[in-house]
Amino acid sequence: MKEFVNIGIIGISGRGSGMLRELLDCEGVRVPAVCDKYEDRAQNGFDIVKEKTGTEPDIYLDYKELLARDDIDAIYCATTWITHSRIAIDAMKAGKHVAFDVGGAASIEECWQLVRTSEETGKFCMLLENCCYDRNEMAIYNMVKQGLFGEIIHMTGGYQHDLRDEISLGRENRHGRLFNFQLRNGELYPTHQLGPITKVLGINRGNRFVSLVSMASKSKGLNEWIKKNKGEDYDLANYDFNQGDIVTTMLKTANGETVVLTHDCSLPRHYSRAYRVQGTKGIYMEDGNSIYIEDRTEHVEGDWMHHPDSFESYREEYEHPLWKKYQTEGVHGGHGGMDFLVLSAFVESVRLDAVPPIDVYDTAVMMAVTCLSEQSIALGSAPVAFPDFTNGMWIDREPYRRGIFCLDEVCNDFFEEKEEK
Ligand SMILES: NC(=O)c1ccc[n+]([C@@H]2O[C@H](COP(=O)([O-])OP(=O)(O)OC[C@H]3O[C@@H](n4cnc5c(N)ncnc54)[C@H](O)[C@@H]3O)[C@@H](O)[C@H]2O)c1
Repeated sequence: MKEFVNIGIIGISGRGSGMLRELLDCEGVRVPAVCDKYEDRAQNGFDIVKEKTGTEPDIYLDYKELLARDDIDAIYCATTWITHSRIAIDAMKAGKHVAFDVGGAASIEECWQLVRTSEETGKFCMLLENCCYDRNEMAIYNMVKQGLFGEIIHMTGGYQHDLRDEISLGRENRHGRLFNFQLRNGELYPTHQLGPITKVLGINRGNRFVSLVSMASKSKGLNEWIKKNKGEDYDLANYDFNQGDIVTTMLKTANGETVVLTHDCSLPRHYSRAYRVQGTKGIYMEDGNSIYIEDRTEHVEGDWMHHPDSFESYREEYEHPLWKKYQTEGVHGGHGGMDFLVLSAFVESVRLDAVPPIDVYDTAVMMAVTCLSEQSIALGSAPVAFPDFTNGMWIDREPYRRGIFCLDEVCNDFFEEKEEK
């Protein structure tokens, strides 16, 4: 493992600046170069690095100049949904591993380009899907692997987050989401719940998505928010947004499981990723924090309701070893600690020069849902075929890399070894 690696940062708005702070807390990381097309944001990146490390990174407004440096091992990119992929492709072509923050793809071609560039250059491309490392999702993964739910039949997930202000004020805040809601209509943000779902279902490793159907509701939420908060005269008050307030997507896998995703960001609501895991022996539901396991959850004869248990005690019992370790070392960082874990997984892969736990095929599958759902909606909710980005290798893949950040298995032995030392 390399003692130190040099990571360049591209895109330093809200997400990029928060992640930069956490990246600098990861062992073995140096940040000698920061970039944003806006000078004040690039300068903010410089200030963060200087404040946290005392070093002064070079500032770039053009990411291609940063990529031309030969002392950079990898790139962390937190630009907009429609710029991530081309920056990632350029980064790999420039000989750098790349990780980028989440978002969906605009075209299937974009996903293929990511896959082919990674295969041709030997550089990895990792979607930084932090929810794969959330405490609950990891405990549930552990339960699935121990057979608590039996054979998995159905899963749901969603991006259900009231973002009306962030979307509507996109121009004032120089934020990238607004134009997508104006012009597109689809499952714009599928990856938060799809990350954990793909790992539970073994997508790209013995399983794959084969088809998808999407349906969009009408769009009213943003107009109402804008009229209430910016006034009737604001130019977007009566704008005819393409993006439906609720977009529902159904996916089918080769092995027969079904998945339902919900995109819900433009109506008043509480946050939820609507995670649900259902198998032949029981069910977990994030909404209600409830779990029902046959022959374990108390069942009173004649109680047709079948009251669930609270998830809390199960989480303690099935805590993922990575989270046990993390809690003893001190959980820190954004989104309850999962941001630091996904960054640590990325940094470990760069230092080892090895395939990350979320690889380019996982990245392509998660991102492809966006443009496939747009196609389905545009065709009147027609089913659309899901590409196989592994070109058949999903039935016989090379083994995954085992380790503490592995998402394809719970590698208990790695934690035991550490404890013994
Ligand atoms: N995983 C998470 O929990 C999480 C949370 C928030 C945001 N995100 C994702 O992170 C990304 C960034 O989010 P944000 O809210 O900071 O978005 P933003 O639109 O505010 O910021 C994007 C930044 O990228 C810069 N940029 C765009 N194109 C560029 C280019 N060609 N060269 C250099 N800089 C460029 C912009 O100037 C801007 O500063 C998005 O994909 C978002 O979905 C993920």
